[in-house]
Amino acid sequence: MKSLDKKILVTAALPYANGKIHLGHLAGAYLPADIYVRYQRSMKRDVIFICGSDEHGVPITITAEKENTTPQNVVDRVHLQNKATFEKCGMSFDNYSRTSLPLHHETAKEFFLAFFKNQILVEKKEQQYFDEKKQKFLPDRYVEGICPVCANPEARGDQCEKCGSYYNSTELKNPKSKLSGETPTLRDTTHFYFPLGNYQKRLEEYLKVSNEREKWKDNVLSACKGWFNDVLRDRAVTRDLDWGVPVPLDGYDNKVLYVWFEAVLGYISSTKEWSKKVGKENLWKEYWHDENTKYVAFIGKDNIVFHCIVFPAMLMAWNDINETKYVLPTNVPANEFLNFEGQKFSKSKNWGIDVDDFLSLFPPDLLRYSLTMNMPEGKDADFYWKDFQSRVNNELADTFGNFVNRTFTFVFKNFEGKVPPVSDALSMVDDMLVNHLDWTTSRSSDALEKYSFREAASCIMELVRVSNKYFDSNEPWVTVKKNPEQCATTLNLCLQTIRTLSILFEPFIPSASQRIWKMLNLKGTPSEAGWESASKRYLEVGHILNSPEILFIKIEDETIEKILHRMDQPTNDSSTEFTPIPSGLGVTNQRTNELTNKPTNLPAAAGEKTKITIDDFKKIELRVAKILSCEQIPKSKKLLKMKVTIGTEERQILAGIAEHYKPEDLIGKTIIVVANLEPAKLMGNESQGMMLAASDDNGKLCFVTTEKEMQAGSVVK
Ligand code: MF3
Ligand code: ZN
Repeated sequence: MKSLDKKILVTAALPYANGKIHLGHLAGAYLPADIYVRYQRSMKRDVIFICGSDEHGVPITITAEKENTTPQNVVDRVHLQNKATFEKCGMSFDNYSRTSLPLHHETAKEFFLAFFKNQILVEKKEQQYFDEKKQKFLPDRYVEGICPVCANPEARGDQCEKCGSYYNSTELKNPKSKLSGETPTLRDTTHFYFPLGNYQKRLEEYLKVSNEREKWKDNVLSACKGWFNDVLRDRAVTRDLDWGVPVPLDGYDNKVLYVWFEAVLGYISSTKEWSKKVGKENLWKEYWHDENTKYVAFIGKDNIVFHCIVFPAMLMAWNDINETKYVLPTNVPANEFLNFEGQKFSKSKNWGIDVDDFLSLFPPDLLRYSLTMNMPEGKDADFYWKDFQSRVNNELADTFGNFVNRTFTFVFKNFEGKVPPVSDALSMVDDMLVNHLDWTTSRSSDALEKYSFREAASCIMELVRVSNKYFDSNEPWVTVKKNPEQCATTLNLCLQTIRTLSILFEPFIPSASQRIWKMLNLKGTPSEAGWESASKRYLEVGHILNSPEILFIKIEDETIEKILHRMDQPTNDSSTEFTPIPSGLGVTNQRTNELTNKPTNLPAAAGEKTKITIDDFKKIELRVAKILSCEQIPKSKKLLKMKVTIGTEERQILAGIAEHYKPEDLIGKTIIVVANLEPAKLMGNESQGMMLAASDDNGKLCFVTTEKEMQAGSVVK
C-alpha cells in the first residue's frame, strides 16, 4: 500500500440552509466524502473534513418570503437542523461552519477587495429585470421563464435544472417575477464581473495536468469539456439583494456578493474556524497554503462548473497577485444524481424522503450501506424501497450478520467464548481465506483511492460471501467431534476475518463496525487499529470475546408495503414533509433500539411505581427548550451547566450528563425540561429546571427530544 505524507483536505459542498437534506444530497456528496475521510483516517493520514451551511443566496430569501420570516431565522433553524441530521447519519466533519459568520464575511470581502484593487474585476452597466409592483430587482431565481437552450418552461433566472445551462437571466424567454408573477421590466444597474475567459487556457491546462496526476472521473471531465467548447464568459459577482455579504465599497448599498462567489470561499473560512476551535489559529494555512496538499472537493454534478472552473479561476487570480498561494482542487469527484422511485427528488412535488424521516424508520448504517451500493458514481441511479429492503435483508442481515452470528455462536458453544488455537500448518482452503483477507484489503483500498465507493464496498461484501463459503465447506459442526484441531483453526480464522471486516467496513457502516469491535472485546476503535492492520491476524489465542448481538434486523415486507402505500396517497396540503411511519414498524417481533437496530436489554416492567392521577401529572410543566450554551462545571465529573431558552425566558439548568455528552455536542439541541421545578443549588450553581433523559440498563443516558424541530417554549403534554 502506498504511503502518503501529504496533508489531505476534504470538502463537501456546503448545502443551502433552506431545506432538509435528502437521500440524493447524501449519495451525491456527503456519504462518499465521509467514507473517503474515514478511510484516510484509518490509513493514519493527516486529513481534515470541512463543510458548513451555505446561508446566502436567493433560495434562502425565497424560503423566508414564503414563510413570512427573515432569512436569518430561516438559516438559524435549518443550519442547526441539517447539522444534527448529518451527525445522526455519522458524517464525521472536523468542522461544520456557516457562511453567515463574520469570519466568512471577512474572508469573502478579502478576496473581493484583492480582486478589485488589482483591477481584476470589470464594472459594467447593464439591464436587469425589475419587479415594478414590489420595487425590487430580480436576480437569479427571482425570475423564471423558458430556458434559452432547451426550452424547459420552468427554467430559473440563473440556471436551468433540466439541461444544466448557466446563463444571464436576460436571456430567459417569457420571464415572470417570482415575487408578483408579473412580467418584469428592465432597469439599469451596475455590477462587477469576474473575467473567467482570461483564465480559460490555464484552466484547461490545470484540468489536463490534474487528470494526468490523478485520474478525474469521466462525468466530470466531460462536463468541463462542454464548458470549454464555448468561450468562457465574464461572470457577475455582485447582486442587487440585501441578504448576503455586502459589497465592501462605498456607494454600493443594497448590493451583495454573488452567493457562488463567496460560498466556495466558505471552505476556507470553515477551515479557519476549525483552526481557531482546535486552538491553533494558523493551522488552516498548513492545508490551504501548501502546494503539496491533496485537496479533494466532493460535490454533486450540478456544482461541477463552480468547483472545476469558477473556484479554481478565483484561486488562480488570487495566487497571481499574492505571495501566499492557495492550493487548487487536486480532484473533484462529483457524483451524478440519485432519483427516487423513478423520479427526481422534488420538494414541491413532495417526492422523496429526507434523511431525518428516513432515520426515524431505519438505522443510519442501513441507509449508508444501501446508498453506497447504489451510488450514482458514473450515471444517475435510483433509490427504490424494495431494493433497499433486499440489500438490507440479503446482504447485511443474511450474509454479513449471519457470518458474524454463526461464528460467535459456535465459539461460545464450543470454545467457551475464547479465540480458539490456530494450527501451524494451514490447509489450502485456510490459506485461500487468509490470502483473500490481504487481497480484499488492498483491492478495496485501491478502489477507495480512486473514489470507486461501490466497488470498494462490493469487494468487502464479497469477502463476507467467501467467508460464509469457507465456514460451510469446513463443516465445523462435523470437525468439532472428528477433528477438533481443524475445527479450532476454522473458527480462529473466521474470527480473524470478522476483525478484518470490522476495519474494512468502518468507513461505510461505522456503528455496526464499532459494535463488532466491542463483541470482539478489542480496545479503541477499528479505525484506530488502522486499515493497514486489517488483514493481520491480531486476535490472540485465548482472547475472551463478548457475547454476540444481532447486528442487522431484517425489514419485513409489511413495513415496505406500508411505506409504499403512504407514497401513493395524494397529499392535500402543500407540506414538504414525508409523513413518518409510526416507529417500530421497521422491526420484527423482537424489541429493538430504533437507532441502532439492535436488540435491547429489556428494562424492568413499567408501572411499578405508585399510580398518580392525570391531575397529578398535569402539575408538571414540561416544555420544549433549546440549548444556547453549555459548559462543564469545574471539578465535577458529571455536571454540565447550560443556558437554555424556553421561548419567553432563558434558564440555567444543570444536568448530570457530562459522562455522556461533550458540551459542544449539546449546543443547539432541542430538549424537554421540567419548567416548574423548585430551583436547586448544585456545587454552588443554581439549576432552574430539569432536563429529561432516558437511561438504559448500563446507565447510559440519552436526552429526550422532539421528533420534529419545535419552537422553544412549546408545551409537552
Ligand atoms: N449550496 C450549493 C448547493 O447546495 C452548494 C454550494 S458549494 C460551495 O448546490 F462551495 F459553493 F459552497
Ligand atoms: Zn435548459
